[in-house]
Amino acid sequence: MTEQLPYILVLYYSRHGATAGMAQRIARGINEVDGIEARLRTVPAISTVCDAVADTIPEEGALYCTEDDLRHCAGLVLGSPTRFGNMAAPLKYFIDGTSSLWLSGALINKPASVFSSTSSLHGGQETTLLSMMLPLLHHGMLISGVPYSETALFSTATGGTPYGATHVAGNGSDQPLSEDELAICHSQGKRLANLALKLAGEK
Ligand SMILES: Cc1cc2nc3c(=O)[nH]c(=O)nc-3n(C[C@H](O)[C@H](O)[C@H](O)COP(=O)(O)O)c2cc1C
Repeated sequence: MTEQLPYILVLYYSRHGATAGMAQRIARGINEVDGIEARLRTVPAISTVCDAVADTIPEEGALYCTEDDLRHCAGLVLGSPTRFGNMAAPLKYFIDGTSSLWLSGALINKPASVFSSTSSLHGGQETTLLSMMLPLLHHGMLISGVPYSETALFSTATGGTPYGATHVAGNGSDQPLSEDELAICHSQGKRLANLALKLAGEK
């Protein structure tokens, strides 16, 4: 039986595909690192209709995240569209269901980072990223950002912050990721994978 590689969970919500595109590029950065791999997972939409029940397997794209996906990850990259300067409710809903992981300390000392997509340039990327870090800090995770050794942080005219990768998707959520945004996603994934391996080696 082949031994399973440790994995970085890339957990995101995406309604129109922009955040999903970022997740794919972050996963490529992770998969470039030997000895660890990316596991892409999403969360279902939530409804104001109480009895609406989603299928357990989405029609397309990444699988829905389970509690075990999160419990056993070597690190986490969490991504959300910006919604009124904050993370989207489906992702928050999922995180609000992780009390048992908090109680058992399952995520303590694991590295984590965050990413987001907005429609507008000044539409709240940083507030979303910072607020996404809060529950991860409660879980005892070690938050990492994007250092300025990633030179795309200097040249980007759209998304990209030291708090985490971002993308300006435009009003129709249809703008492609720029070369700089792609580079920042990629290096964020790679950095988290390397951090996870280093931390695992120090146990
Ligand atoms: C309810 C709601 C609130 C939003 N709030 C913001 C916002 O505060 N700032 C912003 O720039 N875009 C906002 N948007 C736009 C989304 O952040 C943007 O379209 C994002 O790129 C969508 O990502 P996705 O393609 O992964 O779904 C909002 C969209 C919705 C539906």
